[in-house]
Amino acid sequence: MEKKPLDGRKGPPRREVPPVVGLLLAMALMNALLYLCLDRLFISTPRSSLDPRHCPYGYFRVGQMNNCSAWLSCEELRTDVRPLKRVGEGAVKRVFLSEWKERKVALSRLTSLEMKEDFLHGLQMLKSLQGKHVVTLLGFCEEDNTILTEYHPLGSLSNLEETFNLSKYQNVNTWQQRLQLAMDYVGIINYLHHSPLGTLVMCDSSDLPKTLSQYLLTSNFSIVVNDLDALPLVNHSSGMFVKCGHRELHGDFVAPEQLWPYGEDTPFHDDLMPSYDEKIDIWKIPDVSSFLLGHVEGSDMVRFHLFDIHKACKSQSPAERPTAQAVLDTYQKVLNALRDTVVSQTREML
Ligand SMILES: Nc1ncnc2c1ncn2[C@@H]1O[C@H](COP(=O)(O)OP(=O)(O)OP(=O)(O)O)[C@@H](O)[C@H]1O
Ligand SMILES: *[C@@H]1O[C@H](CO)[C@@H](O)[C@H](O)[C@H]1NC(C)=O
Ligand SMILES: *[C@@H]1O[C@H](CO)[C@@H](O)[C@H](O)[C@H]1NC(C)=O
Ligand SMILES: *[C@@H]1O[C@H](CO)[C@@H](O)[C@H](O)[C@H]1NC(C)=O
Ligand SMILES: *[C@@H]1O[C@H](CO)[C@@H](O)[C@H](O)[C@H]1NC(C)=O
Ligand SMILES: [Mg+2]
Repeated sequence: MEKKPLDGRKGPPRREVPPVVGLLLAMALMNALLYLCLDRLFISTPRSSLDPRHCPYGYFRVGQMNNCSAWLSCEELRTDVRPLKRVGEGAVKRVFLSEWKERKVALSRLTSLEMKEDFLHGLQMLKSLQGKHVVTLLGFCEEDNTILTEYHPLGSLSNLEETFNLSKYQNVNTWQQRLQLAMDYVGIINYLHHSPLGTLVMCDSSDLPKTLSQYLLTSNFSIVVNDLDALPLVNHSSGMFVKCGHRELHGDFVAPEQLWPYGEDTPFHDDLMPSYDEKIDIWKIPDVSSFLLGHVEGSDMVRFHLFDIHKACKSQSPAERPTAQAVLDTYQKVLNALRDTVVSQTREML
């Protein structure tokens, strides 16, 4: 449509120019107005609704679906979902790659009735926290103890090295991509700490492999959290703190305040164990990020630049550890700075 007048501008007839210029000016003005309006619209809406694929509560959209569809009911789960093979299992759920309307989906089944409370808590969290950081919920049936979610063929972060090792993914196995993954991870922790429900703590993370198994790698190489079964609420203003489980924890992956403080001579007793806050998640960030950064060209350079912020994450005192937002901001600065360096080095080479 605009092609003709634009082409005409190159051509000789001079008197055609003013209307074209007028038209262009009008279009520019309209664009500017539209831009301003859209800008206002976007600023006043929360971040999650910026996602063009966002659906209202109780609805989902995955893959190439054009419209949002209501969460599947018990009836639909029973008749339309066909389990194909088991792809994962934890203490609470057994996960099956399944088929729904020629689409691959993940069906989770409760492993044992003893774990039903955790299962229902996880389901409640999945419902409440849907958005770009959390695996998409497709349906559930409390009566049958089943949950249907989007299937992610690359599996959990536990498979990250094997995935990057595949020849078709070696081109994305760069420090930039890996730092981006670390930013996704810290972004998820930040989201949980500022969730619509309040400050949630990622408790199901008492060692590195366990922690990695709670997150999935999407086909676009971003991270979503999948297992929300142990996500207690901290409320600083009402003095409400948490404990991750009722058993004694060991090792230096967990935060020091999660360890039994009264020495080996006093036997562990859950009632005597002090509670703690969301800063236990900050303590774990350096270990998870370091795993995500891996050992490619540039990984150590990134680690070097993250040294100070990671040192702060490992402060013995929880209050001295930075917030997830502060960690995220530092990661972003490091990514920008290193990108600029790489660009200027490339320029010098040219
Ligand atoms: N949507 C999915 N797509 C692909 N793989 C999945 C999906 N959901 C789960 N899995 C696989 O199943 C594993 C177990 O899932 P999940 O962590 O939800 O189980 P769980 O029983 O709650 O675990 P835990 O022992 O931590 O409580 C995951 O680590 C992952 O490998
Ligand atoms: C999606 O919604 C549009 C508009 O409501 C409708 O015309 C279309 O048929 C829907 N498509 C599907 C696949 O349901
Ligand atoms: C990556 O692949 C190589 C061979 O292609 C293999 O020797 C190595 O063990 C693999 N590493 C991982 C982590 O899978
Ligand atoms: C935290 O506690 C305060 C004071 O009791 C209360 O007003 C607030 O609603 C609580 N916040 C959450 C998220 O529960
Ligand atoms: C992921 O990739 C698919 C296909 O390449 C694309 O359609 C989809 O929008 C991407 N999702 C995100 C969140 O970038
Ligand atoms: Mg799990």
